[in-house]
Amino acid sequence: MKKWWLLGSIVCICFTVIGFNAPAPILTKAQLGKKLFFDPILSENQTISCASCHIPQYAFADTLAISLGVNGTPGSRNAPSVMNVKGHGPFFWDGRAASLAVQALMPIENPVEMNLPIDQAVQRLKTHKVYAPLFRSIFKQMPSAQNLGEALAAYQNTLETDASAFDLDQLSASAERGRRLFVSNKTKCFDCHNGPDFTNDDFKNIGLYDGIKLTDKGRFSITKDSQDLGKFKTPGLRNVAVTGPYMHNGMFKTLEEVVDYYNNPYQFVPKPINLDSTLLEPLQLTNQQKKDLVNFLKALTDQQYLKKAQ
Ligand code: HEC
Ligand code: HEC
Repeated sequence: MKKWWLLGSIVCICFTVIGFNAPAPILTKAQLGKKLFFDPILSENQTISCASCHIPQYAFADTLAISLGVNGTPGSRNAPSVMNVKGHGPFFWDGRAASLAVQALMPIENPVEMNLPIDQAVQRLKTHKVYAPLFRSIFKQMPSAQNLGEALAAYQNTLETDASAFDLDQLSASAERGRRLFVSNKTKCFDCHNGPDFTNDDFKNIGLYDGIKLTDKGRFSITKDSQDLGKFKTPGLRNVAVTGPYMHNGMFKTLEEVVDYYNNPYQFVPKPINLDSTLLEPLQLTNQQKKDLVNFLKALTDQQYLKKAQ
């Protein structure tokens, strides 16, 4: 008995001395990123995480028109889905972040989001009994701004979806008519919403800037090029049925409203500035065509969200 106790103590002491008393569980970079994405440790008062505004059950978007940061402080834009971001960029509605890793640090520091200076965030991780060893084992380094961004990016790169009715060739007759309209010259939706995730990764002005009520200048704020006035990043449309409200300012609650908007933008915004040339003429869609387009958009919902979308 005594011998075992002695042996146990020696093993214990050895582990403590070599620093193995709490061996870090082996995680991948993406798994570490996931842990951080859901952890309020990255916000000033430890109350909100990335997932407070990018909520898994809403395809990692928000249900509010404008997201709320620490202490309920409103921001100025609608939170987009962070699913299907792999291979895309630049990020944000105005494209101010070139990569996911660079983007990830911005909400942490943003006063209307998590409001925590990056060096403080890094300091918290360096002194954290779980995170510090995890970073050391994964990156062979202490936590830093760079590897924090990398971990969050690695996680978001795993959030790909590819099992919608559209992917599985299971479009209803109406959704199929909607698909044809979507890619047709009549609507020109596909001019901008193209590629596997229905975005051209470009900035376009669909008429939501008039300098009076709609004052977000979008891409112009970054480039200061007058041609970019009122341009926003074309959002991808996968899972769009569960990511409402819509547009950079969350001004439309439903996909029906979005399609009504495209049908005749001037009904909503009489004097848009710098409107894209493809949208100058009202589409004059019938009610059935509008329904078909909406049904096509709903058919881009991944199976995991299907119950929610109906
Ligand atoms: C308070 C709400 C809030 C929090 C917290 C938040 N975000 Fe966001 N996120 C937003 C909003 C709003 C935007 C759009 C802002 C803009 O374009 O100016 C956005 C944009 C993004 C984008 C760009 C997506 C695209 O397609 O351009 C990514 C990626 C993202 N957030 C990841 C994160 C990560 C990672 C965290 C945690 C470190 C985080 N967000 C925390 C609200 C939030
Ligand atoms: C000229 C390019 C262009 C065309 C054509 C276009 N879109 Fe868009 N779409 C955009 C841009 C840019 C936004 C974001 C605008 C903003 O927030 O100010 C957007 C936003 C959307 C949204 C909201 C997505 C979200 O997450 O908020 C939906 C849905 C949508 N478009 C569907 C369509 C449909 C359906 C058509 C065809 C009837 C169409 N789009 C035609 C560029 C375009």
